[in-house]
Amino acid sequence: MRKQIAAANWKMNLTLQQANALMDELLATPHQLKDSQEAVFGVPFPYLINIKNKLAGKKNVFVAAQNCYDKKAGAFTGEVSAEMLKSIDVDYVILGHSERREYFNESHAMLAEKVNLCLTNGLKPIFCCGEPLAIRDAATQNAFVENQLKESLFHLSAQQLTGFVIAYEPIWAIGTGKTASNEQAQQMHAHIRSVMAKQYGTAVAESISILYGGSVKANNAKEIFAQPDVDGGLVGGASLVAADFAVIINSLK
Ligand code: PGA
Repeated sequence: MRKQIAAANWKMNLTLQQANALMDELLATPHQLKDSQEAVFGVPFPYLINIKNKLAGKKNVFVAAQNCYDKKAGAFTGEVSAEMLKSIDVDYVILGHSERREYFNESHAMLAEKVNLCLTNGLKPIFCCGEPLAIRDAATQNAFVENQLKESLFHLSAQQLTGFVIAYEPIWAIGTGKTASNEQAQQMHAHIRSVMAKQYGTAVAESISILYGGSVKANNAKEIFAQPDVDGGLVGGASLVAADFAVIINSLK
């Protein structure tokens, strides 16, 4: 079975003290991960080492950075490189979140570079894609998402994409309390898998974990994750509440 992943995206929230308290509460809440399941914590850069240490020895639990820069090293004040993240044993990097595409003008080409730098450094990207409301209203979301995948991932080899992680996050569902319906999520996830299958073959496509993101909550995670092509979720708001995220982890297939 391909990996089923509950990934928290804390975004720019929580002080270190609040982050520690949240993680302590979560670790005290019983949750069981099967071999095929993972919990991933996408935490702000300053807390990565600390949270990684807290999770030491825990099975199938990992940390993610929320971004990295698209250059290897050098005079880029304030930026963080993939190599730096690797050097502190970060596992995953969330790339191409719609907030970064929108507020920081991240282009397809920049994201392709970031993916390359992560892979070169042995970091696993969680590559985000997803359409804005206007595209959904025009019913052109399939072509829109296909183009995001093509422009930032299709230069990779089949081997590099085996076991890859993609997060589909319809922008109109992020932080809005408006979740895609189970059918809308399944339809797009199946489309993403078929796009990858067309380019790389069925075996590669079937190995890719496709997470759903956008107002995943404790009370809807189970039904969304139950869809055949939904392999877990990338969770913002609800990942800031220990009890809720524990339920979401326990909702994995
Ligand atoms: P949300 O955010 O769960 O708060 O909608 C999801 C995301 O942006 O990753």
